[in-house]
Amino acid sequence: MKVYLNGVIVDEGAAFLPVNDRGILFGDGLFETIRAYGGRPFRLERHMARLREGCRTLRLAGIPGDEEVRRAIGELYAANVREGDAYVRITVTGGAFDGSRTLRRSGPPNVFIVVKPLEPYPEEYYSHGLRLTVSRIRRNATSPLVRVKTNNYLESLFARQEAVEAGFHDALFLNTYGHLAEATTSNIFLVSDGEVCTPHLECGVLPGITREAVLEICQDLEIPTETGFYTLDELFSAQEAFLTMSTGEIIPVREVDGSRLGESCPGPVTARLIQAFHELVKSPGPEI
Ligand SMILES: Cc1ncc(COP(=O)(O)O)c(C=O)c1O
Repeated sequence: MKVYLNGVIVDEGAAFLPVNDRGILFGDGLFETIRAYGGRPFRLERHMARLREGCRTLRLAGIPGDEEVRRAIGELYAANVREGDAYVRITVTGGAFDGSRTLRRSGPPNVFIVVKPLEPYPEEYYSHGLRLTVSRIRRNATSPLVRVKTNNYLESLFARQEAVEAGFHDALFLNTYGHLAEATTSNIFLVSDGEVCTPHLECGVLPGITREAVLEICQDLEIPTETGFYTLDELFSAQEAFLTMSTGEIIPVREVDGSRLGESCPGPVTARLIQAFHELVKSPGPEI
């Protein structure tokens, strides 16, 4: 497999980071996960905008521009995938540790891009929905880092591990104020009395690219939307719920901590949005 590392395409086996990289020492850095549909990355410019915004928060300078990234993804798709959908990950790390235990860095970041065949989620996730549990860990709504896809995902991995050990597919986070936030690697939506609702970004959630696309689709379909501050009770009384993420798109939620949400899963609104999302990613042209 070929990968991109700091401006060059190399064999994966020849791509290394030094042991004094700040990404390894402090989790300093951030990443993007993108789905490419038949080689066309979904909303690459928005993923790059989120990456740059995260870089501003982390005060990290020197990442490649959109065109270089697009070219690299194209080359890696041609080398590693060739047909079907691909998983694309752009990772940026803080570069060499120079003794500064602040956000000051003296060298350039390290940037690598991996493109490989997408491993889809099991079909039953879409046909039957997920069983979720509420994590005992809370998302810190006061932290600027919750809005950045930083290289430290241990809290999400920890919460998912506990959920899987207890027989669930994934975990949901409330935030430090007790409001619904997101799942470990996805945003959550509720459908309540015909309205499609998702936690406000101030709840301490990642500004998901799929979340944004779903809100836009709703607008096109004239389905009312709301971004707000929701309690767990509001989730339990919703008629439908679903998760959104780049790799899995829209995945219905069947149960939360053993309580069934609504009568059918996927519910009618979720099914309509899944359909509309599929149409969106099939739109013609080089950009989707
Ligand atoms: C914590 C978290 N929230 C939300 C999302 C969904 O974001 P996107 O739709 O941009 O993939 C992700 C994706 O990995 C995530 O890790």
